[in-house]
Amino acid sequence: MYHHQVRFIITNSFSSPHQPSPAMAVHPPHPSSTKQQPFFHNETQPKENIFITTHPISFFGVPLVNLNTRISNLELSNPTMLASGIMDEDAGSIQRIIDLGAGAIVTKSIGLIPREGYPNPTIVELEYGLLNAMGLPNPGIDHYGKELQQITKSKTPIIGSIYGSNASEFVTLGKKMEEYGVKAIELNLSCPHAKGYGLEIGSDPNLMQEIIKGVKNSVSIPVFVKLSPNVTSITDLAQAAEKAGADAIVAINTVKAMKIDPEIRMPVLANKTGGYSGKAIKPIGVRCVYDIAKNVQIPIIGVGGITTASDTLEYIMAGACAVQIGTAFYSEGLEVFRTICTDLESWMKHHHVKTLTDLIGVAHQ
Ligand SMILES: Cc1cc2nc3c(=O)[nH]c(=O)nc-3n(C[C@H](O)[C@H](O)[C@H](O)COP(=O)(O)O)c2cc1C
Repeated sequence: MYHHQVRFIITNSFSSPHQPSPAMAVHPPHPSSTKQQPFFHNETQPKENIFITTHPISFFGVPLVNLNTRISNLELSNPTMLASGIMDEDAGSIQRIIDLGAGAIVTKSIGLIPREGYPNPTIVELEYGLLNAMGLPNPGIDHYGKELQQITKSKTPIIGSIYGSNASEFVTLGKKMEEYGVKAIELNLSCPHAKGYGLEIGSDPNLMQEIIKGVKNSVSIPVFVKLSPNVTSITDLAQAAEKAGADAIVAINTVKAMKIDPEIRMPVLANKTGGYSGKAIKPIGVRCVYDIAKNVQIPIIGVGGITTASDTLEYIMAGACAVQIGTAFYSEGLEVFRTICTDLESWMKHHHVKTLTDLIGVAHQ
């Protein structure tokens, strides 16, 4: 659990509803009424109140609501996906997450050769999330491929995340991932702390387009592009990615951040700066998805700070068709996928929504 909980909400009486602030919250409304009806617990209510419904969510084992969603040609049984870099180092841990109910899995970002990552400390728990600078540690594509082949026959789609320093590295990695049987590729163009990789190349639209086109021309599976919020306009990059042929946008990677320990008068992370994830970044992610959804036609996968069904609904109403979950494993425990799905089903039943995809982008109306 994080050390501190949010116990208050600050409202700005000067903000206009038509001019969303850079970070925004979407409150899931009652579809058939303008009256707001509280359903989920929020930080001001005790956790025991999380779930108050008298509606059954299945009839003789047949679900009364439909959580299925689709990203390009991938069919997901529910919208929750494992985010890259969390509990996805080997086939055993990936299988565990599948068993825990994830709708899809994204692998750790994998490069051409093994990489140790940064020296410790690489991760620190902050008030409302985690700060990490792992430095993309991974065993390299050939070794990781052996792990992947044990798991890619699974009904749950596995998506291979890759990073490189130029288009030709991405192409080689993309082809190998396809050979190993992944159902889609996620291009990590957004890691905020790996020199020469991630954000350093993902913030250049021309280079980004060259990479996307190269990979698209070399594989026959969908290619997703994971973007960073640490840029002037994530929307411009999303549009450039769509133009280059990307099949979906993943938003967002971690937010560049830093922690200094006053007692030792030094940054806590060995790398000094890192990427912030978890609850604190959810409003940033929701705003990014909302803005991107206004400007692209391809599917969007929302990620950043999701721990509950209510968070998931915010992203979906902002325009995402699925969500990825990472840091919530540390704060909420391994049951987070199942809890989110059960709570989503109950919310939908309570609000007479039969199909989750009917809610995609409703906050734009
Ligand atoms: C420890 C850790 C390792 C991560 N490794 C990767 C990675 O290898 N590739 C990547 O694209 N994102 C990586 N991420 C970013 C997550 O996939 C995700 O975009 C981010 O943490 C925001 O989601 P969350 O708040 O649910 O964690 C990592 C995040 C954490 C906390």
